[in-house]
Amino acid sequence: MKINKDILILGIESSCDETSISVVKNGRYVLSNVTNSQIDIHKIYGGVVPEIASRNHIINIDYVYSKALSDANITIKDINAIAVTYGPGLIGSLLVGLSFAKGLSIATNIPFIGINHIEGHIASNYITNTDLEPPFIALIVSGGHTNLVHVKNYNSFKIYGRTHDDACGEAYDKIARVLGFEYPGGPKLEKSALNGTKNIFTFPRGEIKDCPYDFTYSGLKSHVINVIHNIKQKNNDRIDSKTISDISLEFQNSIIDSLINRTINLSKELNINKIAICGGVSANDAIKNALSTECKKNNIKFFYPEKKYTTDNGAMIASAGYYEFINKKTSNLDLNANANLEFTDK
Ligand code: KG4
Ligand code: ZN
Repeated sequence: MKINKDILILGIESSCDETSISVVKNGRYVLSNVTNSQIDIHKIYGGVVPEIASRNHIINIDYVYSKALSDANITIKDINAIAVTYGPGLIGSLLVGLSFAKGLSIATNIPFIGINHIEGHIASNYITNTDLEPPFIALIVSGGHTNLVHVKNYNSFKIYGRTHDDACGEAYDKIARVLGFEYPGGPKLEKSALNGTKNIFTFPRGEIKDCPYDFTYSGLKSHVINVIHNIKQKNNDRIDSKTISDISLEFQNSIIDSLINRTINLSKELNINKIAICGGVSANDAIKNALSTECKKNNIKFFYPEKKYTTDNGAMIASAGYYEFINKKTSNLDLNANANLEFTDK
């Protein structure tokens, strides 16, 4: 291992449709973050096509890697460890990043570290908020995950809440699609909600008996889809843009209610006065504003990542990798990609 005051981690993320590689110093300072997004390729299909995603990772990863090093003004020899997402995600996509990391590790003798993608999202907050330290409550809201977590330490978590069906971002994308927005629909639905009027519609707030911190969005989703179909049926298969906005607003308010109460309640129950939101849906200003207001009322400090680190990126993987590396945790070459990798207490 190099004797080097600063520790530089190369972070590689390819679990879905973003090929992203980053160099991060000491877990907090981003020297480069290069992302090739495939959104334009997948949007014509209304969602990510796994086979196309992995092929495009293969095409892009070399260039993204070279640019990440040159933007950081370093060579691979300056890197202390290579952190890479090994799950959960699309298996073909994960394999591209993981195989690349292993090959690089063999060729350079630099250790590599497999990172759970969800732990990466939590670490996205360390980049934007350089003063944030555990313990805190993390609310992870992305296209694939919805979790409420007690971050006990950098490498130690207790999971209190998980979704029983759809993830929060998945619910956004599905409703957005039925409303006629392109994939990924979350940001477009948020924009449409700005023109909505409150209380025109009333949608359910999903609760699960005896699981106060768990989430459910399937009831809300079916209800909203039914409402949209009924409106279209009565109106020659059309729905006007004001009605779309009214539905978007009430849908979003139902989501906001589901997230805020649980998160604030857990913070109070554990007596931890720091909450950090992360994941793609944390780009949503309405959700952040609502959570920020509730945090202020309850004397809780609220943290969120800069927008560019809310969706999948290599920097958050590098940051999570740093805290593994300084804990002397590296991976062996027999580590395999795991599409269904669990996020468990540790
Ligand atoms: O974290 P991410 O890039 O991928 C996963 O790990 O799943 O999250 C992508 C998700 C998509 O579902 C997208 O619609 C959602 O984040 N998203 C939003 C917003 N921006 C992205 N949802 C609601 N409002 C937004 N502004
Ligand atoms: Zn993600």
